[in-house]
Amino acid sequence: MKKISDHNLKLKNKKILLRVDFNVPIKDGSITETSRIEKIIPTIKLLIEKEAKIIIISHVGRPKGKVVKEMSLEPISKKLASLLNRNILFNNKILNENTISEVNKIPNGSIMMLENIRFNAGEELNDKEFAKKLSNLGDLYVNDAFSVSHRSHASVEAITKYMPSYYGIQIAEEINALTKITSDIKKPVTLIIGGSKISTKIKIINNLIKKFNNIIIVGGMANTMLKYTGSNIGRSICEHDCESLIKEILQNSNKYNCKITCPLDVVVSKSLEGSGTNKDLKEIVEDDIILDVGSKTIDSIRKIINESNTVLWNGPAGYFENPNFQNGTKQILEIIEQKTIKDNIFSVAGGGETVAAINKFNKLNSFTFVSTAGGAFLEFLEGKDLPGINALT
Ligand code: 3PG
Repeated sequence: MKKISDHNLKLKNKKILLRVDFNVPIKDGSITETSRIEKIIPTIKLLIEKEAKIIIISHVGRPKGKVVKEMSLEPISKKLASLLNRNILFNNKILNENTISEVNKIPNGSIMMLENIRFNAGEELNDKEFAKKLSNLGDLYVNDAFSVSHRSHASVEAITKYMPSYYGIQIAEEINALTKITSDIKKPVTLIIGGSKISTKIKIINNLIKKFNNIIIVGGMANTMLKYTGSNIGRSICEHDCESLIKEILQNSNKYNCKITCPLDVVVSKSLEGSGTNKDLKEIVEDDIILDVGSKTIDSIRKIINESNTVLWNGPAGYFENPNFQNGTKQILEIIEQKTIKDNIFSVAGGGETVAAINKFNKLNSFTFVSTAGGAFLEFLEGKDLPGINALT
């Protein structure tokens, strides 16, 4: 693994193309969640210390090769400047014949951020000519963007063909934590998986069922399991035509001796805005909507986590956006946090909604590792090769 953090690597005077993923939520021009930016700061500080010239490449949103004013990286460059407490030159033009001379003017230890790389049509096409042009801007390429490494895009994949390419600090940490949880595991190991659709997570379940001792299914996808096993789920969200997927999960759980746990009780309401009532499964009526796991379920989750040495969590337990249905998600976070502190277990969480829940309850430091990736995190857990990482290997 060629790492940029290698102590012997001399970077003074070198122009480093640093690919990051600053695809952060922006509302009315201000950034509402900054963890993806904060996580890259160690890499940037290292490059400053080594007196390199830093050229930051990122995307935000999906502008599809066109300039979309609302998707400019300018507010992000300002945020980064304030987090680093130093000036950042923002290059507001899309890549053109003058970019090289502009980049060449950067003094050692300084930072230039390029405008949204997806404003260039060649980026998402993984276009070779575009990647070559991009590579001409620097001496060395660093990928520190795990969360976009599942995309075969020019600044992620093709560029590595044209210049010496390295792993950044953050991407190495992501790969290390996720490899540890999927292959180098200290048993018993538990997966808590939620989210609305079982079909979007089936590949993860089937990949991990062979290695894990417990899979706890929560959130909307648990409703599909409950319906299949004969419970009335009222008006709750549920996926149809999943019989064969569920059969597959249950067969594999027998085959690989992995225990599947579904909710024993739930919190229901008549609407998303309503308040909640804890009910046993047999008490659910036609107009009930399941919006959280119940207290008996939380107790059984606590017991499983307390007997685990490794825990992986993806997907909230309920509709945590309404405080009346946040208890399951909050409790799971607290149980994992306590167990991580007390017994120093290896705990990992990740995925878009999961990170949103972790941020809501201020628990970013409660896990051994929190992945800020969404799609890339899920594809890695499915056992897929990620093009951006393959390209570095
Ligand atoms: C993400 O937020 O998951 C990454 O930035 C990738 O974004 P994309 O799904 O638009 O490629």
